[in-house]
Amino acid sequence: MDTTDAATPSADHAAHSDDVTYRTRKWVKPEDLNANGTLFGGSLLRWIDEEAAIYAIIQLGNPRSVTKLISEINFRSSAEQGDMIEMGLRAVEFGRTSLTMRAKVRNIITGEVILTIDKIVFVSLDEEGRPEPHGYTDITLDRDRLPYGMNR
Ligand SMILES: CC(C)(COP(=O)(O)OP(=O)(O)OC[C@H]1O[C@@H](n2cnc3c(N)ncnc32)[C@H](O)[C@@H]1OP(=O)(O)O)[C@@H](O)C(=O)NCCC(=O)NCCS
Repeated sequence: MDTTDAATPSADHAAHSDDVTYRTRKWVKPEDLNANGTLFGGSLLRWIDEEAAIYAIIQLGNPRSVTKLISEINFRSSAEQGDMIEMGLRAVEFGRTSLTMRAKVRNIITGEVILTIDKIVFVSLDEEGRPEPHGYTDITLDRDRLPYGMNR
């Protein structure tokens, strides 16, 4: 099993596991449940999209980075109220205007994988909303790409 992730700075305390780096944890609360009493898929997708957006903005240095594509999502297990889950991402390809990531979510309590997503594609846009070349080819380990004004 590959436990390394070049996307993570060594000073970062993010947990390494599998092929992604787990950065964000969530606590499943009543407002996150479906009628079955388990984690609502829409809540989870919102969290993942936000996680991917933050990752893309840091990597591409552009706050106008938008979701272009999310590939097949296979909900393999779920979570119950009070469970804690963690979300992991890994950048897999820097395109000309895009960044492709992979995602995995697991239940900290049960240890089970909740879902995997092979491809989440974000595109860097210019002020007119057109794809804009980001100029990057690999992962930054710092916050050095944040535009002036965001990097306080
Ligand atoms: C993002 C958007 C400007 C891209 O427009 P587009 O006409 O597809 O642009 P392009 O064809 O130039 O493609 C831009 C990049 O996306 C990639 N791309 C386009 N369609 C893709 C697809 N179906 N799967 C994977 N990548 C795709 C292209 O390969 C290209 O990447 P590259 O420059 O790294 O090679 C446009 O689709 C859009 O505005 N979508 C809405 C985005 C949005 O608002 N998302 C939030 C949720 S609603």
